[in-house]
Amino acid sequence: KEGAKTEAKKVLNVGTEATFAPFEFMDKGEVTGFDVDLLKAVANEAGYDVKIENTGWDAMFAGLQSKQLDIGMAGITITPERVDSYDFSNPYFESKTMIAFKDVKIENAEDLKGKKIGVQNGTTGQFAAEKIVGQNSSDISKYETAALMFQALQSDNVQAAVTDIAVALEYQKNNPDTGIETVTDDKQFEPEYYGIVFPKGSEYVEEFDKALNTVLDNGKYAEIYKKWFDE
Ligand code: ARG
Repeated sequence: KEGAKTEAKKVLNVGTEATFAPFEFMDKGEVTGFDVDLLKAVANEAGYDVKIENTGWDAMFAGLQSKQLDIGMAGITITPERVDSYDFSNPYFESKTMIAFKDVKIENAEDLKGKKIGVQNGTTGQFAAEKIVGQNSSDISKYETAALMFQALQSDNVQAAVTDIAVALEYQKNNPDTGIETVTDDKQFEPEYYGIVFPKGSEYVEEFDKALNTVLDNGKYAEIYKKWFDE
């Protein structure tokens, strides 16, 4: 074609915390998962490439603050506090809090009282647990990654882990002989919505929202959803 050129797409730097299957996890040295496929589809639609790095949770937010990262994609719940400091895309996934537990009886959120609880530090799981047992409760142990939280449950360092529903169910499915049980509590836990995160004032938010809409409308989102969530 006349005048056709192959223009290299701009590469955006993405941070994540990749111990959060099925949203993001490491497979053969690569970050993979629902979020990865979705972000790539949305970025592609918007005309960008993405370089996704497993920065860890805190470093991801720090990188967004300092604008060393263009995007955070990690099953990140849109909360009023975070909206003060970062820009979010429109919601792309509905979630809720789930309690995973082992060797104890837990039927609802109230039953967390008096239990040893593990959470991933700085997540809505932590905030949900604190709402029940108090913010400074010494019964809450905070872990840097979701994987370390699940390890603590597995090795009986905690009796319950408070995290996101799809992640708890995935862990349970992948670890069938561990005696791990799960329960939600719609009376105590609010629905949550994940968004793609950008530094405050980012130039990309609008383009990504538009691209996200397209991906939701044209069947691409449904395809990715099916790949990761159809049993
Ligand atoms: N949705 C929860 C939150 O935003 C947990 C997200 C944890 N994500 C992760 N990749 N470890 O607080």
